[in-house]
Amino acid sequence: MALETLLRLEAVSKIFPGGAVGLDAVDLDIGQGEFLSLLGPSGCGKTTSLRVVGGFEQPSSGRVLLDGQDITGLRPYDRPVNTVFQDYALFPHMNVEENVGFGLSLRGLGAAETGRRVRTALDLVGLADKIGARVSALSGGQRQRVALARAIVCEPRVLLLDEPLSALDAHLREQMQVELKRLQAQLGTTFIMVTHDQTEALSISDRIVVMNRGRIEQIASPAVLYDAPATRFVAGFIGTMNVLECRLVERRSGTIIAAAGPLTFEAGAGDNASGGTLLVGIRPEDVLIEPDGVPGRVIGTVFHGRTLRLHVELLDGTPLTIDAPRSDLSADYGSGQTIHLRVRPGIARILRPN
Ligand SMILES: Nc1ncnc2c1ncn2[C@@H]1O[C@H](COP(=O)(O)OP(=O)(O)O)[C@@H](O)[C@H]1O
Ligand SMILES: [Mg+2]
Repeated sequence: MALETLLRLEAVSKIFPGGAVGLDAVDLDIGQGEFLSLLGPSGCGKTTSLRVVGGFEQPSSGRVLLDGQDITGLRPYDRPVNTVFQDYALFPHMNVEENVGFGLSLRGLGAAETGRRVRTALDLVGLADKIGARVSALSGGQRQRVALARAIVCEPRVLLLDEPLSALDAHLREQMQVELKRLQAQLGTTFIMVTHDQTEALSISDRIVVMNRGRIEQIASPAVLYDAPATRFVAGFIGTMNVLECRLVERRSGTIIAAAGPLTFEAGAGDNASGGTLLVGIRPEDVLIEPDGVPGRVIGTVFHGRTLRLHVELLDGTPLTIDAPRSDLSADYGSGQTIHLRVRPGIARILRPN
């Protein structure tokens, strides 16, 4: 990684009393100034990871290092880390200024300096005009900004955000994603955000950590995760992907010829291809409708705006999902119709089975 490592998780495991596995030997390096997302299904260990970094949870084994210093045993308030909680956790009886300044007064900062920093933080989140407002009078989006301001006012090295936008409606959520990203770039602070929403993670992060059952499946940039998912789990979690059991037809230099039923195609580099069968991932946009392709029967269509999603069955029953640009379609396709298909060469991924 190009960035200097700020935070390191070293073989961190968390077994809860009763035996539930929160984290299973997680190794993770996070760069200074990075926007990192933890993505995965419910129960995969995202919140536990954040709580271990924040000091709210002690790992059963392993270490947490900040700038090379072991901070595993430090209490939350002794770490240069702040958290934006999922439910905001604002103080309802305090106004905006008091909420945002609370942590600073705990640290014994004088009134003048506290006031200055509170105003700066509120400016950064676009809430300067609400400084005297009661929290109960604010909208959901405004409360989210107060929670953000309250976390950044302490000038943490690392900001932890647990599903920060999940309570907002879709439109506001998208707007806040842009603002979060802008804020992070402006501050240069390392952000670690938990989300179960792949679209959100893809649109906002420098890197994404995909988690499954307390383990890391893959760490990569959004583009690499999308174009080159490493495992069946990641392929199934990021975007839509046809995951096909294929025969290895032929191995050529740097490429592989694979076949799913009657559909033969050139897959990407297959260093991890072994034996006669392969697990191959193909994006719906990489299946092309072409007259010299193999026949398939349309069993359903879904209108997606610029593309039409076709659910197709090849003659042997192999199911395929296809996204066809609507500008390319000479006619609208309907159920029962036969079309001819080809896989865009060199783009299918060989996946590790989980
Ligand atoms: N305090 C706890 N006591 C017992 N089990 C827990 C506790 N917190 C989390 N777990 C378990 O640890 C696993 C990971 O939980 P969590 O990190 O909250 O997942 P996520 O945030 O990804 O949904 C789950 O199986 C969950 O039930
Ligand atoms: Mg959680």
